[in-house]
Amino acid sequence: MSKSIKILAIESSCDDTAASVIIDGNICSQALASQLDHAQYGGVIPELASRKHEEAILPVVQEALTQAKVELSELSAIAFTQGPGLLGALIVGTVMAKGLAHALNLPLIAVHHMQAHVLSNFIERPHPTFPFLCLTISGGHTQIVHVEDHLTMTVLGQTKDDAAGEAFDKIGKMLGLDYPAGPAIDRLAQDGQVKFDFPEPEVPGLDFSFSGLKTAVRYFLRDSIHQDEQFVTSNLKDICASVQWKICHILMKKLITASEQTKINSIALAGGVSANTGMRVMLEEEAKKRGWAVCYPSRKHCTDNASMIAITAHYKYLRSEFCAQDVRAFPRMEW
Ligand code: KG4
Ligand code: ZN
Repeated sequence: MSKSIKILAIESSCDDTAASVIIDGNICSQALASQLDHAQYGGVIPELASRKHEEAILPVVQEALTQAKVELSELSAIAFTQGPGLLGALIVGTVMAKGLAHALNLPLIAVHHMQAHVLSNFIERPHPTFPFLCLTISGGHTQIVHVEDHLTMTVLGQTKDDAAGEAFDKIGKMLGLDYPAGPAIDRLAQDGQVKFDFPEPEVPGLDFSFSGLKTAVRYFLRDSIHQDEQFVTSNLKDICASVQWKICHILMKKLITASEQTKINSIALAGGVSANTGMRVMLEEEAKKRGWAVCYPSRKHCTDNASMIAITAHYKYLRSEFCAQDVRAFPRMEW
């Protein structure tokens, strides 16, 4: 019988320190330390994030190994997020992974954070069938990705300015909601009505833009508050429902175009915003109309986590895609 493949994976690209152990493609642990300290500043403070990663990384790695009942000596490889992300934050995970791989004389696997979001659809079953289109919507990215196989992907379109999650967070801030505002808008929208309309951006091809929507909401709120000081408080749920619907509608329109252009009917979602209830309902409705086969990760695998790094590392291990010890982290990374 061949030896099991046991990989320890580390994710530290933004404000979550996470580690997972994967054995033969099955996730056996998922340890996470979320940095709540940023909420008081209304966004992630890069310097603070790096320091918090440094504090959390050892206990989180230890917890992932303990949960999985795996000893360091049993590991086959060490994986880490190479980028994109906050450089100081990425360096903490990168250095930890390099140190472990060096000390244990193990192969090192560098993982692209956005590729890992796409592959979060392979953590649990059913898996999407190839080829599929993945709408990857997070706090830093908004992309339509053409996925040929586990490791062959092409970005067909992306945002020209703000990401979808950034739009949720920035508009939420205007409404007085804590960072990150996406989950709160999602909750409030469930009891609200789509009553307010906002203009839609005209962006060619499969690209997106969300900065115009942000500005439109800012002026809408300014004018409405001018007439009624209590406007936001009295209409919060309806504002959230309207903003959420518009963001999802903009995303869905481009996804439909991508499906029509490529003739691909296997569709997946990934990234923090794919946890959004309205987005999932809209996708399911469109799927029924168009005969799409759809897939999205469970909510804990939508936002940043190490299991998505681990599953990507597993496929890279199978192809012996290892990197050298002089590998570096990059805040921006091409595919
Ligand atoms: O994928 P992620 O954890 O980190 C990045 O790689 O950026 O995504 C974080 C983003 C944040 O903007 C957050 O507000 C958004 O995902 N988000 C949501 C929901 N849960 C997280 N947005 C809308 N509805 C949600 N339920
Ligand atoms: Zn992410």
